[in-house]
Amino acid sequence: KAVPVVTVDGPGGAGKGTVTQMLARKLGWHLLDSGALYRLTALAASRQGVALDDEDALADVAARLNVTFEPTPEGEPVRVILDGEDVTREIRTEKTGDGASRVAVIQPVRDALLQRQRDFRKAPGLVADGRDMGTVVFPDAPVKIFLTASAEERAQRRYLQLKGSGADVNIDQLLDEIRARDERDMNRSAAPLKPAEDAQVIDSTGLSIDEVLMKAMALVGQA
Ligand code: C5P
Repeated sequence: KAVPVVTVDGPGGAGKGTVTQMLARKLGWHLLDSGALYRLTALAASRQGVALDDEDALADVAARLNVTFEPTPEGEPVRVILDGEDVTREIRTEKTGDGASRVAVIQPVRDALLQRQRDFRKAPGLVADGRDMGTVVFPDAPVKIFLTASAEERAQRRYLQLKGSGADVNIDQLLDEIRARDERDMNRSAAPLKPAEDAQVIDSTGLSIDEVLMKAMALVGQA
């Protein structure tokens, strides 16, 4: 019997990270943060002096990523170790996120990361967070969720988050960045962001995290 997978795809800032972490904990399943692999590829490339348009070299960087994900106590982000160094914070910067969305348009990079992502599928189950989890990586997943929210709401959440950490931010600029990232993710030819045909859409605009989690758990329970 195939190991079950819940895929959660959607645009950046819709709350996928928080929801998938909570879902995985609740179910006692493994978690795949596929965006982290694209972020790590961008970071490793920059450290190795590989240009973000050198497709073959980038695919090589992706294939050779020496990364481990270490579990952490509840409420803390998973610890990410690249070449023995803790890069948990560094992969979350805007610069790395921007680099990630640039390397993610390159098909050989996506191919190089495909099997690594599928290897996360282990008993008793997997919650997979990304853009193409339901469409490309786990097309046979029994539960597929597309989690979205309006660009304004996502900009607002990001604004509060950054402001809370003391950053000097401008909401209009954040909204522009979110729209640019959406544009690139949805209009690329390699695995564009879109709901799988058999995905259930959850729009988190105006919902709390607990409300989203309840909706997601209800979908998992129905499967
Ligand atoms: O989800 P996160 O913001 O960490 O993803 C960073 C970037 O990686 C996204 O903007 C997207 O371009 C890319 N990505 C992807 N496919 C995935 C996950 C992330 O193309 N499955």
